Amino acid sequence: METKIWDVRNYVDDLSTYPQVQEIITGFKADEIIAIPTETVYGLAANALSKAAVDKIFVAKGRPQDNPLIVHIYEIKQIDQFASIPNDAVRALMNAFWPGPISFILPLKQHVLASSVTAGLDSVAVRMPSDAIARQLLKLSYLPLAAPSANTSGKPSPTNADHVLMDMTNKIYGVVRGFQVEVGIESTVVDCTSYPFRIARPGAISAQDLERVVPGCITEANFEIEKPIAPGMKYRHYAPDSPMELVKDISKLQLCEGEAVIAPQSELSRFDTSVTFALGETFDDITGAMHQLYSALRAMDTMPSIKKIYIADYSHVKESEALMNRIHKATSGK
Ligand code: TXA
Ligand code: MG
Repeated sequence: METKIWDVRNYVDDLSTYPQVQEIITGFKADEIIAIPTETVYGLAANALSKAAVDKIFVAKGRPQDNPLIVHIYEIKQIDQFASIPNDAVRALMNAFWPGPISFILPLKQHVLASSVTAGLDSVAVRMPSDAIARQLLKLSYLPLAAPSANTSGKPSPTNADHVLMDMTNKIYGVVRGFQVEVGIESTVVDCTSYPFRIARPGAISAQDLERVVPGCITEANFEIEKPIAPGMKYRHYAPDSPMELVKDISKLQLCEGEAVIAPQSELSRFDTSVTFALGETFDDITGAMHQLYSALRAMDTMPSIKKIYIADYSHVKESEALMNRIHKATSGK
């Protein structure tokens, strides 16, 4: 299959004026899988009501069948069709953070979504993205779209359309080319099937952010526990091809031939620029680091001379939890 590319960057304000927009919408309705931008990472989207469509996602990504997908919606009232909102606390969080980079795991209504979407669980993760292109596609199709990150399973999530094409060329029906994403790491996932809620995957919206809206709504999560809260967390994720090691004190690091370093710009001046990749300006620039992490990991994969990667430890920095969660996964805890 030759993957179609729809460059919609000049039509973001009103996607209905894009000449091929109907081809995209018809594709979704005909059970095709299409990569789309969101504000977190690019997603590989398909009609969540169709088993045939959702099955194609698992094949294209090489994703294990027991790892459920997030369902994307345009407006809250769509949830009613396939899930329930268990209490006012969930509703308050949705109103505060949607559209935006956060997913809520809700009790599932049976026999509406393709069962592969939820991997047979009795709950479903739901998100209303804020990205303008994603929102308009969700509105125009008016379908609940199941969309995992649009990478090959085990690769870093794509933060631009070129990353998607690296992994998915000729494996999927099409790619909607938008801009570089805003956030750069996947949405916060909050398990709302019991109260207080638990963060199943940390993201740009933190537990403190949620607590500010509904005090006491989040219980401590331990992401290192044996039994993962989110099934996806047991898989090795976001890993570059070369081994990568966390460095506690980057100021003491010495690089040998074939070694590279990923760290804030402020720490990189003493190294040869050909083997450095900046994550934000300084250690305090967590937003910048999240934005650039996956590009850095992918860049490393395109440099065959690099045999070993060192990455800075941000754990001493406030609000670094989600960033460090992804770095730990990429280093497999080394
Ligand atoms: O930002 C994002 O969330 C992106 C964009 C495309 O929206 N999507 C994304 O999807 O990251 P994915 O499939 O790569 O990650 C979904 C995560 C997995 O860790 C999965 O195990 C968890 O959400 N998940 C989904 N449904 C679940 C459920 N019912 N119970 C527990 N965890 C669930
Ligand atoms: Mg993913």
